[in-house]
Amino acid sequence: MNFVPLKKILLTGGLGYIGSHTATVLMDEGIEVVLYDNLCNASESVLARLETITSKKPSFIRGDIRDTDLLTKTLRAHSIDGVIHFAGLKAVAESVAKPIVYYDHNVGGTMSLLKAMGQAQVKILVFSSSATVYGNPQFLPITEDHPVGATNPYAHSKLHIEQMLIDLAKVDQISSDATSSAWRIASLRYFNPVGAHESGLIGENPKGIPDNLMPYIVRVAQGSLPHLKVFGDDYETKDGTGVRDYIHVMDLAYGHVATLDLLRNHTGWHVFNLGTGVGISVFEMIKTFEAVTGQNVSYRVVPRRAGDIATSYAKVDKVRKHMGWRATQSLDEMCVSAWNFQSQL
Ligand code: NAD
Ligand code: UFG
Repeated sequence: MNFVPLKKILLTGGLGYIGSHTATVLMDEGIEVVLYDNLCNASESVLARLETITSKKPSFIRGDIRDTDLLTKTLRAHSIDGVIHFAGLKAVAESVAKPIVYYDHNVGGTMSLLKAMGQAQVKILVFSSSATVYGNPQFLPITEDHPVGATNPYAHSKLHIEQMLIDLAKVDQISSDATSSAWRIASLRYFNPVGAHESGLIGENPKGIPDNLMPYIVRVAQGSLPHLKVFGDDYETKDGTGVRDYIHVMDLAYGHVATLDLLRNHTGWHVFNLGTGVGISVFEMIKTFEAVTGQNVSYRVVPRRAGDIATSYAKVDKVRKHMGWRATQSLDEMCVSAWNFQSQL
């Protein structure tokens, strides 16, 4: 099978949290990146920070993924070899309140991207999926063939997109000697990305009050929020609080490079969990954060958050076997880097 060239990659949502970290790794690997973002949840100031980190200037296009013409022009003008598709809306509660907005950006936006890629004959795609597609786990650790079952519009949008990608990848699979012209698509099901780049220049900085645990903890530690609300201590877990598979965002970023490598010589659709395989409780996270940063995180236990599950962690054997990738950074490093970023804001 032909190896395909991967010199220039378009990152939709490239100024966002995971996209910007992935951009640093790609640029360090000598891959040129074009960042495409409508800035609805990101700041243009990230560009200068990326330049400071990598000593290279990434190209930036301000645009919406629902603008098929602009995407097609961008793919052609920059001779893009492949796309990593981060752009989308990601707040579960907001998706329940505004489902059509979520389907529009996430499903409609991806459909627009796929049309543009087809027109520009760019057929390598890595998609940001989510562990949320597994719903309430039927067994643990969660393997890639665990049944899917979305419980909110955000998760449904990810499942709709995965189905589109599965159907699209099948088009070229009729022939066994698939060539470089066949679609090569990977869905990466991220577990819980946390932490920040070691420089402290980029990290997760949500607008308004954070929904997720780590951004909330760092703001409590910093004093901009009074205390963390621990959503339930009566789950059937080691200490009663929710258990998740937290993964350092830089490990996640390297996972994208490994995926691009895999797609160089694999056609069709592929799915991988990206996690550490280790479940951490909310209380463990608080204690670790306090121990490694020396900051106090005051908290109160409040009732469970609607829609939360008790436990989620990944089986990560598949990605290790097929890509040789595994997460290397510890929970300590996740906490230290998240705090390092927050305390420089
Ligand atoms: P983020 O909000 O920081 O990044 C997404 C970026 O996409 C933002 O910069 C935003 O401005 C841009 N964007 C949104 N809609 C757009 C549109 N219509 N056109 C162009 N740009 C648009 O989020 P993130 O945490 O970096 O997440 C990246 C991807 O990973 C998302 O698809 C998300 O669903 C997925 N994901 C994230 C997590 C997580 O916990 N962070 C977990 C699982 C999956
Ligand atoms: N939690 C608290 N207090 C908070 C925030 C969270 O106790 O203020 C608890 C939750 O109850 C849960 C754990 O911390 O037990 C993690 O919660 P997050 O909101 O950080 O993460 P979730 O696992 O609920 O969801 C996240 C993203 C989803 C994504 C999913 C899987 O928000 O979009 O991870 O990748 F789909």
